Amino acid sequence: MSEKRRIVVTSALPYANGDIHIGHLVEYLQTDFWVRFQKMRGNECLYICADDTHGTPIMLRARAEGITPEELIARSHALHSKDFADFEIAFDNYYSTNTPENKKLSTSIYESMKKTGAVTTRTSPQLFCEHCNIFLPDRYVKGTCPKCGAEGQYGDSCDKCGSTYAAEELANPKCTVCSNTPTLRDSEHVYFELEPFREFLRKWIPEHTTSDVSNKLLEWFDEPLRGWCISRDAPYFGFEIPGHSGKYFYVWLDAPIGYIASLQNWCDKNGEKIEDWWQNNDAELYHFIGKDIIRFHCLFWPGMLHAAQYKTPNKVFVHGFLTVNGEKMSKSKGTFVSARTYLDHLPPAALRYYYACKLTGTTDDMDLNLQDFVQRVNSDMVGKITNLASRGAQMLNKNLEGRLCEIDEEGRKLIEFAQSRADVIAEHYENRHFSQVPVELTKIADAANEYFDRKEPWKSVKVDKDVTRVTLTVILNVFRILSIYLKPILPAYSDKVAKMFNEESYQWSDANKILESGTIGAYEYLATRIDVKAVEAMVASSKINPGESGEVQHESRASKNKNKKPAAEASSVETPDLKPEIQFADFEKIDLRVGKVVACETVPKSSKLLKVTIDAGKLGTRTIFSGIRASYQEPETLVGKEVVFVANLAPRKMSVGVSEGMILYAGEPGVSGGVVSPIDEASAGTPVT
Ligand code: MSP
Ligand code: ZN
Repeated sequence: MSEKRRIVVTSALPYANGDIHIGHLVEYLQTDFWVRFQKMRGNECLYICADDTHGTPIMLRARAEGITPEELIARSHALHSKDFADFEIAFDNYYSTNTPENKKLSTSIYESMKKTGAVTTRTSPQLFCEHCNIFLPDRYVKGTCPKCGAEGQYGDSCDKCGSTYAAEELANPKCTVCSNTPTLRDSEHVYFELEPFREFLRKWIPEHTTSDVSNKLLEWFDEPLRGWCISRDAPYFGFEIPGHSGKYFYVWLDAPIGYIASLQNWCDKNGEKIEDWWQNNDAELYHFIGKDIIRFHCLFWPGMLHAAQYKTPNKVFVHGFLTVNGEKMSKSKGTFVSARTYLDHLPPAALRYYYACKLTGTTDDMDLNLQDFVQRVNSDMVGKITNLASRGAQMLNKNLEGRLCEIDEEGRKLIEFAQSRADVIAEHYENRHFSQVPVELTKIADAANEYFDRKEPWKSVKVDKDVTRVTLTVILNVFRILSIYLKPILPAYSDKVAKMFNEESYQWSDANKILESGTIGAYEYLATRIDVKAVEAMVASSKINPGESGEVQHESRASKNKNKKPAAEASSVETPDLKPEIQFADFEKIDLRVGKVVACETVPKSSKLLKVTIDAGKLGTRTIFSGIRASYQEPETLVGKEVVFVANLAPRKMSVGVSEGMILYAGEPGVSGGVVSPIDEASAGTPVT
């Protein structure tokens, strides 16, 4: 093998306001495969990551939960760390962007950027929500597209005609948090000008990204490059910009610097110098990212690093998005599965194996077909590969004292075939063509199974122990080699195999060895078939079922929507605030009436429900248990309000009593909603939250 390489690898930093889900895992798993492979090859490789903790969505989520942003990000850090660990994702450092290291680095990189003259300020009008008391990020404004007139478009671009514009250009803009109309306020902002780095970037991009990525980015170079706004107004959860009080670094400025900060933190803990890892031209640096954040990593980030005289990444590896059963992950279909929900039902190794089967190293989207998932794991990972060990090792232990022996010529050929694939498989790992690895492994496993079936050791064991011992020694050697090749994908599995053979955790070169003596340890459970029922149960518990959610629908929506990707970037997720489209016939079945709240009280032992009594005119008095307590800590404030309710909903027996209808309420996911109160003069026009 050539000389030891020194490699720093990152995955994009997940936002601290959401759970890790199976879409994220496409990234964290493939990075983990790659890093583990590099380590097995004897390279010095670090997997660096952190939570991305700053920005408006995090501030607003904390606000909605009545906690501080610091509390929110501490909670997420613990949850994320646990999710990753349980998926066998092994970071060398998992840090946070809200740290002293990151503040210091962000400030110093900003100061260096300023010295190049590329940092400017200009004043521009921005949309401000008086009710939420924030300047609205683009994705927090919806209105009518200024170009084509399509309604309900976000503040950055139009889904219908594809044009991009400034949020202030939207007609009839509304704050997506509270639905009020924002006003325009002048504000001075800090920009990082990219035009001075045009030539650098034009050359850098194609050299450090694949052609599909670079072609897209280079389209922007037909016109002068627009400056990038790197400041945000208070209130904002982030780092204040030196010399601009009340202004904060835009989260996307300090987030990638978080890579360096996390590495710095690792260095400090390990007695290393960052100069040897980042600022070292002999070290390699790679970022794994999804295609939604290309702009930040392949344009702004190299621009910043170059301006601040930092080393830029050797390559940015961009992957596509996860689809499930051929469609975007969907909450209503139950395919928006959090890492935790997956783990509640299925083993992490199964997903690791399946993702490896599907990862091609391109920006194409990747499909998790749930049926194929079960089938592929069961037939290949368990049926073809693991069975070699479970049959071979158990038979050897039971009948032949677990002792291995010298092998014959035929067996040697089979083992040598397995060994001969080492370089090819290594190349697939190196090039991130992970899907080719299982293809190669099943070829080897097929040959081994053919040998096993032909030798019929279950028969020969009764008549010739020596012959049987040879057969089983051969099979176990092939299996051992497979589990070495599999280690980047199935590390815990591979370690158990090493333990069975009384060996240390495998290095790649261990595949050169053949075991022809000694005894094996007990066979430990490695993997069993997965059950379709477990997959169905996982989907069921990920589902937001409009039929069942009943009166506590808002709460469940709010809590499930913790998964929601709230920030400025495009999302793979179906429009998160909408349920599936219904037909008019569905709607027509609902009998909506207006009633007046005559009494409202809390329900003992329920943190969610309020008992609401309404005067429904001709319909008489109705009692409805409504899951809106979070929005009405003082229930009496509802008394006297007029509400819209579903009058023909079948009465529902709840543990606290019978609910005779459903009150309608409105709100954004993740933010406490309120009763829609259309008629009541007193509340007309007042915010619903
Ligand atoms: N916080 C930013 C990244 C900052 S890096 C300096 C961010 N966070 S994220 O949580 O939204 O996404 C983290 C990574 O997961 C991104 O690379 C993103 O592309 C990836 N994915 C998020 N959802 C995904 C899918 N559904 N499918 C595949 N990858 C996905 O962006
Ligand atoms: Zn608002």
